[in-house]
Amino acid sequence: MNDLLLEVENLQTHFFLDDGLVKAVDGVHLHIRRGRTLAVVGESGCGKSIMARSLLQIVTPPGKIVGGAIRYHRGPGDVVNLLDYDRKGPEMRAFRGREAAMIFQEPMASLSPVYTIGNQIVESFRLHFKVSKAEARTVAIEMLRKVGIPRPEARFDAYPHQLSGGMRQRAMIAMALICQPNLLIADEPTTALDVTTQAQILELLQKLQAELEMAVVMITHDLGVVAEMADDVAVMYLGQVVEQGSVDDIFYNPQHPYTRGLLASIPRLEGATRARLAAIPGTVPHPYARPGGCPFHTRCRERIINRLDMCKTEAPPLVQVGAEHHARCWLHHNQGVELSSEAVQLASLPLTTTGGH
Ligand SMILES: Nc1ncnc2c1ncn2[C@@H]1O[C@H](COP(=O)(O)OP(=O)(O)O)[C@@H](O)[C@H]1O
Ligand code: SF4
Ligand SMILES: [Mg+2]
Repeated sequence: MNDLLLEVENLQTHFFLDDGLVKAVDGVHLHIRRGRTLAVVGESGCGKSIMARSLLQIVTPPGKIVGGAIRYHRGPGDVVNLLDYDRKGPEMRAFRGREAAMIFQEPMASLSPVYTIGNQIVESFRLHFKVSKAEARTVAIEMLRKVGIPRPEARFDAYPHQLSGGMRQRAMIAMALICQPNLLIADEPTTALDVTTQAQILELLQKLQAELEMAVVMITHDLGVVAEMADDVAVMYLGQVVEQGSVDDIFYNPQHPYTRGLLASIPRLEGATRARLAAIPGTVPHPYARPGGCPFHTRCRERIINRLDMCKTEAPPLVQVGAEHHARCWLHHNQGVELSSEAVQLASLPLTTTGGH
């Protein structure tokens, strides 16, 4: 497909800790398309951040990428596996910042407290383009204006602590986008902001995406943000993408029990059930106690309803369930059984009980 930007295949990133091995990313398959927004969702601890950091090779020891491929389609006929590059080498340094950039929940993860924001943006630009300081300053001021910072000529000389939370977030975005990357990875970029600022930042990201024709990977736990922003959605559970499809596939035709559980846990306004409902029993297993077989089998109601014993012992492969729609579940494999309508109904009911089975 010619609109592919990144093709992630069987990516594995593990943490080698004294107490054991944590398979934070354990066989991720993912497609990121040029100019589109891919939302990555899943409960906390499912490997979203480590997967995102792996794409830029910014995972630090004891974490290490141990396998897979990240094919970057730079242009027609020009495809490289980013994992062939040394993570500290010149090719990867050129890729980071120039072709792909990342923003975080906490702006101080990218901004230094001891330099002015203008200086930091200028330095990021001059890392990749041979221009004078004066020329870079002009570009930086233009970028500050673009991200909605008022009086950018004056703010250029401000230190991060002199800005409000929302303005600091905008400065971080300006720094990430100064080289006009093809890909922006946003890891829960608005989680720490108040609702109004959050809406403004999301609107800004949408505007910049259209202007710069970037692909955006938006990591979020907020399905409202997904509905608003995303073209495609990847659902992660215990280090794997268990389902990927268009936003319509995922919201209106979810094929993985975990996705159905996440959707059923969206707070509903009707009646007395306003609180977040526990549609998925139990919690994400401890990283040292990763279940065998299908990693979701300890919490999956559809396994029990459909009496799928193999789920406990055999890991399901990722199978195609629609044109651009994939799921990793025995319900959709030839060797598996057809999904019973009873299972679909049960899974989409908001359940009020938690606990094991
Ligand atoms: N620096 C680290 N050292 C050890 N384990 C880590 C580290 N960072 C992440 N992990 C583990 O990797 C797994 C995935 O983490 P993460 O990608 O941060 O999840 P998410 O972003 O989905 O909440 C978790 O089990 C977490 O405990
Ligand atoms: S493979 Fe089995 S346990 Fe895993 S999600 Fe599908 S039905 Fe549930
Ligand atoms: Mg995270």
